[in-house]
Amino acid sequence: MQQALIGVIGGSGLYHMPALQNGTEHVFDTPYGKPSDAIVTGLVHDIPVAFLARHGRGHRLIPSEIPYRANIYALKQLGVRYLISMSAVGSLQEELKPLDMVLPDQFIDLTRRRDSTFFGNGAVAHISMAQPVCASITDALARAVNEINLTQSITLHRHGTYVCIEGPQFSTQAESHWYRSMGASVIGMSNMPEAKLAREAQIAYATLAMVTDFDCWHPREAYVTAEMAITNLMKNTERAQQIAAAAIRIIGTERPSSIAHDALASALITPLEEMM
Ligand code: ADE
Repeated sequence: MQQALIGVIGGSGLYHMPALQNGTEHVFDTPYGKPSDAIVTGLVHDIPVAFLARHGRGHRLIPSEIPYRANIYALKQLGVRYLISMSAVGSLQEELKPLDMVLPDQFIDLTRRRDSTFFGNGAVAHISMAQPVCASITDALARAVNEINLTQSITLHRHGTYVCIEGPQFSTQAESHWYRSMGASVIGMSNMPEAKLAREAQIAYATLAMVTDFDCWHPREAYVTAEMAITNLMKNTERAQQIAAAAIRIIGTERPSSIAHDALASALITPLEEMM
């Protein structure tokens, strides 16, 4: 099996990775079912990369249907150690405008019906999610944005809290105000339990979030629609692809250490030999 160092999960509107060269498709069947789609491995700047369309190419899966465990399991099988998640989000703060980009460093998980652990059935572990995002990947993404900004102008926010809802419906106004009162910065439907599962799999994870709308809390802005979100996302697709490729070059060259890489060291309750 061809190995990959870095994984990229493309969210809504990001179903391919043009920078990926010599692409080979891998169709997996894991103990958790099939991933969202075939995973394409190839080279970006000579670094082995695996790309997966989170909703499937052609966008066939609602967020609750995404096989999060199968996706992370398959990427782990391919050898992925760093995972970049590209995701559309709504803004819950005035200063985060549509087309801005955000590097969330915290998550609030409000999902309700998703399998969110690889553990159970006799194997017990409690991993730390205190710092859910790999600072080295967010740093690489920020440096990548700076490089792209030499020719373009991207407004990047280096911190933020991403609240993940079950969907697929957008939020009510009461909910949107509630998320704001929690201190959330952006809202989406797909980064949880993805980030938790990546941590359990000891894969370093970070999200490049692209703001598409103001959800429905803003007194002067239109309420979010799917059409609005996709239209704004499409305006950012090319830049997002450029940022991902530059971040891959940085991560692949530097291969930074991450707290995720030994996440299980302090998390296992059931002795490893008893799990085998
Ligand atoms: N994805 C993009 N915009 C969103 C919003 N307002 N709520 C949930 N997910 C989103």
